Amino acid sequence: MLDSMVNRRIAEILRSGQPDESLIVQGWVRTKRELKDFTFIEVNDGSSLANLQVILDQDLPEYDKILKKLNTGASVEVAGVLVASVGKGQRVELKAEKVKVCGEADPETYPLQKKRHSFEFLRTIGHLRSRTNSFGAVFRVRNACANAIHQFFQERGFLWVQTPIITASDCEGAGELFSVTSLNLKDVPHTETQAVDYSKDFFGRPTYLTVSGQLEAEVMAMAFAQVYTFGPTFRAENSNTSRHLAEFWMVEPEMAFCNLQGNMDLAEAFLKHIFQYVMETCSEDLEFFNQRIDNTVLATAENIINNQFERITYTKAIALLEKADVKFEYPVSWGLDLQSEHERYLCEQLFHKPAIVTDYPAQIKAFYMRLNEDENTVRAMDILAPKIGEIIGGSQREERLEVLERRIIAQGLKTEDLWWYLDLRRYGTVPHAGFGLGFERLVQFMTGMGNIRDVIPFPRTPQNAEF
Ligand code: 4AD
Ligand code: MG
Repeated sequence: MLDSMVNRRIAEILRSGQPDESLIVQGWVRTKRELKDFTFIEVNDGSSLANLQVILDQDLPEYDKILKKLNTGASVEVAGVLVASVGKGQRVELKAEKVKVCGEADPETYPLQKKRHSFEFLRTIGHLRSRTNSFGAVFRVRNACANAIHQFFQERGFLWVQTPIITASDCEGAGELFSVTSLNLKDVPHTETQAVDYSKDFFGRPTYLTVSGQLEAEVMAMAFAQVYTFGPTFRAENSNTSRHLAEFWMVEPEMAFCNLQGNMDLAEAFLKHIFQYVMETCSEDLEFFNQRIDNTVLATAENIINNQFERITYTKAIALLEKADVKFEYPVSWGLDLQSEHERYLCEQLFHKPAIVTDYPAQIKAFYMRLNEDENTVRAMDILAPKIGEIIGGSQREERLEVLERRIIAQGLKTEDLWWYLDLRRYGTVPHAGFGLGFERLVQFMTGMGNIRDVIPFPRTPQNAEF
């Protein structure tokens, strides 16, 4: 560190720094512009999209030596005095008095030069891409979304609960599980019947990375009434799409004494709150996305905040899709799960806003969803968003013991494995509901980023876990 002067974040300096203030900034050089008597460098410390312009006068001690080291990517500490900027684009700039180059970046090899790079290329340098404008904006918005989420639930008295990452149950029953084992894969122990002998494994049974914290969130909701989880979830689905990750974050509120209506109302208020919060706290970043990534970003945010979501049953949605004058790749008929093209048609072509689709056929949804009177559909709700498709999946839960047991068996699962989950229906059962928001899909929706790999710092997808 240079000395005891206060060091300040660039976002704050650009917002409220005053001429004649002495301060230190620390960051990375974005550009260098050498003029006859002095040099401009743009320094960024990740706190804002905008850089701080620093002027290095040629009278500065060791001017030439420092300049040689000050290339794009180098880390610097600059002590100086703020001056009113004469140039366009910024209110203040920093006149350097003392410059320390902490780490150089060789211009011959440093891959992030001034030109614009494709997101595909930037994925190959995942350890450096956060130093670009786009990824800076993405991760600030991601942080703001996380903040908004906690704020929303904490203000409403929800308890944040931590559910396990290693689990023995498959919440969604889809079999998309990553196994967790400490067995030696070169010498796996077998039982007499040649099955893997999991009694020799770490937990004495098969275990997996969780696909959802819901079942455990239900346990906690039966004591605290309103809870939410916010953590990583894992799915070994071999989907190479722009909306699927093998490791993604999910937010899962769970409410006792709540039905599907209350669940939908909460989910809608929740999304509105997050958009409102990010519009207020990250306006510069959202403007950037609107200008450079997707020119509907700001209109979408306004649309979310100001319009009621469409609410429609699955059966009605199918009828609308059957009438649609477009040819879908997957033909539509009652009983089939909605594909992304159907979801997008509904909110992009028909409603022009998010849609909440409810009451899906029982056979395409998970065992825990509450069976409707018709015995054919369940109290499910998916929220579909323009360009993204499903962003939230949730339901009212089956609180009746016998019905739940029937549903578990019908789906080929074992009631013994879920004894503790069934106990929740034996002791003090209550109508309850909840949902899961895919955090990365939310960030995609908010920023207009086309590929989900570009809204999480370290994406995990099939054949890819490099960084
Ligand atoms: O619809 P899903 O599978 O629902 C559940 O897991 C429930 N247990 C949630 C609950 O009711 N508590 O997943 C919820 C959301 C989806 O709507 C989607 O946004 C996201 O998680 N999601 C994924 N996001 C990224 N990559 C994947 N592979 C995803 N799979 C689901
Ligand atoms: Mg779903």
